[in-house]
Amino acid sequence: MDSPFGLLAELTYRCPLACPYCSNPLNMAGYQDELATDEWRRVLVEASDLGVLQCHLSGGEPLLRRDLVEIVRDAHDLGLYTNLITSALGLSRPRAEQLRAAGLDHVQISIQSDEPTVSDRIAGIPSFRRKIEAMGLVKELGWPLTMNVVLHRHNIDRVADVLALAEDVGADRVELANTQYYGWAWRNRDALLPSRAQLEAAEVVVRAARERLQDRMDIIYVIPDYYSRYPKPCMGGWASRQLTVTPNGDVLPCPAAHSLPLPRASVRDDPLELIWAEAPVMTAFRGTDWMPEPCRSCFRREVDFGGCRCQAFLLTGDAARTDPVCYLSPDHDLVARAVEAANADSRNDDLPLVPRPHRPGLPLVACPR
Ligand code: SF4
Ligand code: FES
Repeated sequence: MDSPFGLLAELTYRCPLACPYCSNPLNMAGYQDELATDEWRRVLVEASDLGVLQCHLSGGEPLLRRDLVEIVRDAHDLGLYTNLITSALGLSRPRAEQLRAAGLDHVQISIQSDEPTVSDRIAGIPSFRRKIEAMGLVKELGWPLTMNVVLHRHNIDRVADVLALAEDVGADRVELANTQYYGWAWRNRDALLPSRAQLEAAEVVVRAARERLQDRMDIIYVIPDYYSRYPKPCMGGWASRQLTVTPNGDVLPCPAAHSLPLPRASVRDDPLELIWAEAPVMTAFRGTDWMPEPCRSCFRREVDFGGCRCQAFLLTGDAARTDPVCYLSPDHDLVARAVEAANADSRNDDLPLVPRPHRPGLPLVACPR
């Protein structure tokens, strides 16, 4: 068993945006009892003791946590590399300066498109202009900036313009991440899945941009695994190098594993070290012993680890099956049918996108400064 390298600290699932591709759980009401500042402090200490080097502060919208600066300072003081993953709504100048002083190392800002109307429509609220201003602020304060754009059927045709926007704002890195189908994205899958023609056109644009911008901007392009022959090596293997702590203290091997029928493990009940080593949610699919055929005897079993457990569960109802994305999987027709529908005609263009609720059961409060 290796030590975890990265901690994804999901500080809250509250969010001012309503993106239909969000991977947060559908039952957000189950996560309202958020860890307090001193609980996060203990999680960070335990994570550092366990070998974690990178701390990704995410959500929901982490800027909605009034104690974000303190959490960043704690992580920084422990020697962790800190990355804020944000919509940037709530990143005012005073708050950004406080985060800079607290030692925040890197900022990743999501934007929904290069075009304001499209971006605001997908985000569910007017936000484009504020995001662009926040990107300027991030560069002004000297942070490295990653611009993240989740790609799908409704914006992938704009990828050349998205790359031009990334250049304009001076992004050091742009992450073009085709939607992964978990949480709300799973619910909207058929409306979000692009066609093969859309993907091929986008790949041509990305290849050319990579060549042109190789010294100036890193371009990360995450292909949609539904179109791959083999599945992605999700998380580098189950409970291998990454762990996630959810807003209420649940510990997971990946952000989507809340959907699996495995016993809960919580930092409120046990130390992180014990959970990492022994909790069933961590050990269930660690290594290769759990694998069924065809993975068990496959030459790629140490390459992709049988694919994604969460995807296997969502598609088949059994997390221990081969990821149906794999063309060798006995369940591959489940993926093939979705791909076929995405390419059949323009029917999927008219499917409604269900926006993610901001935060059911909670009153809306303004973003703190
Ligand atoms: Fe990967 Fe399993 Fe497919 Fe082999 S059979 S390529 S190990 S998912
Ligand atoms: Fe959970 Fe892939 S997202 S294992």
